[in-house]
Amino acid sequence: MERKEIEELVRRRITEKLKRTGKEYIVAANWKMNMSAKETKRFLDQMNETEIPQYLKTIIFPPYPYLYIFQKMLRYSRIAYGAQDIAKEEKGAYTGEVSADMLADMGCSYTLTGHSERRGYYAETPQIVGEKTKAALAHGITPVICIGETLEERQSGTYKEILRLQLDAVSAEAEINSCIIAYEPVWAIGTGVIPKMSEIAGTHEFIHSILVSCGGASEKTAPILYGGSVNEKNVNDIASVDYVDGFLIGGASLKAESFGKILKLLSVD
Ligand code: PGA
Repeated sequence: MERKEIEELVRRRITEKLKRTGKEYIVAANWKMNMSAKETKRFLDQMNETEIPQYLKTIIFPPYPYLYIFQKMLRYSRIAYGAQDIAKEEKGAYTGEVSADMLADMGCSYTLTGHSERRGYYAETPQIVGEKTKAALAHGITPVICIGETLEERQSGTYKEILRLQLDAVSAEAEINSCIIAYEPVWAIGTGVIPKMSEIAGTHEFIHSILVSCGGASEKTAPILYGGSVNEKNVNDIASVDYVDGFLIGGASLKAESFGKILKLLSVD
C-alpha cells in the first residue's frame, strides 16, 4: 500500500472508532528513568506550542521528581500526566514507595502499573500488579496496566495463557474495564523489533475478548494501547490495526519533536 493510502486508512479507522466507541484515542509517553529537570521544562515548553486534536488524549509519565514541573507548567494545558508506578499500600513504613494520595496531590490522574521492567527487575508478581491497580482506582487515578509476553512465551505459543493470567490477576482485585490496558510484548520494548501486524491484530482481539468476558459490553471495555518500539515510521501502520486504541511510547517520546510528529501523524482533521 502507498503511504498516502495508509494515512487515509488510519484516518478512516480512527474516525470510525471514535464514532463507534465514543472513546478517546490515547497516546501515552513513558519516560522511564530518563530526562533532567531542564529537559523536562524544555519539552513542556515545546508541547505547549503543539496543537493536539481534541480527541487525542495525551498522557505523559515522567520520573517522580519531575511531576511538580508538570503540575506547575501544565495547569492550563490539555495534556494529562501520571506516575510510572504506585504503592499498593495506603501509607506508613514503606521506604521508597509513593502512595496514591501523594500522586493525587501532585495532580496525577493516571499511573502505569505492571510495566514489564517492574515485573522483571523488581519482581512484581501479577498479584502485586492487581493490588497496585486497585489502590490507584480507589483514589480516582486511572491505571494503565501493562501486560506482555517474553519472546520465549511468544515462540512456544504460551503467550495467550500468560496474558490471560496477567489480566485475571488484575480483575480479581479491580474493575479492569475502568482501566486502560497497554499490550507491550517484552521482546519489542526498546529493541526496534515490532510484531507482525497480524500478530498485533490477533493479540489485541484476544485481549479484547478477555475484557468482554470480564463483564464489559463490547463498547464499554477498556481501551487497548500497543507499546514496544513505536516510532514515527511505524505508528500509522499499527494505528490501522483493529482494536488498537492508542499507544504507549518509550524511546520516541523523549524528544518533543518526535513525540509531536507522532501526534501529528495521528491527527485526522
Ligand atoms: P519503547 O518502550 O517505545 O522504547 O520500546 C515502550 C515501553 O516500555 O513502554
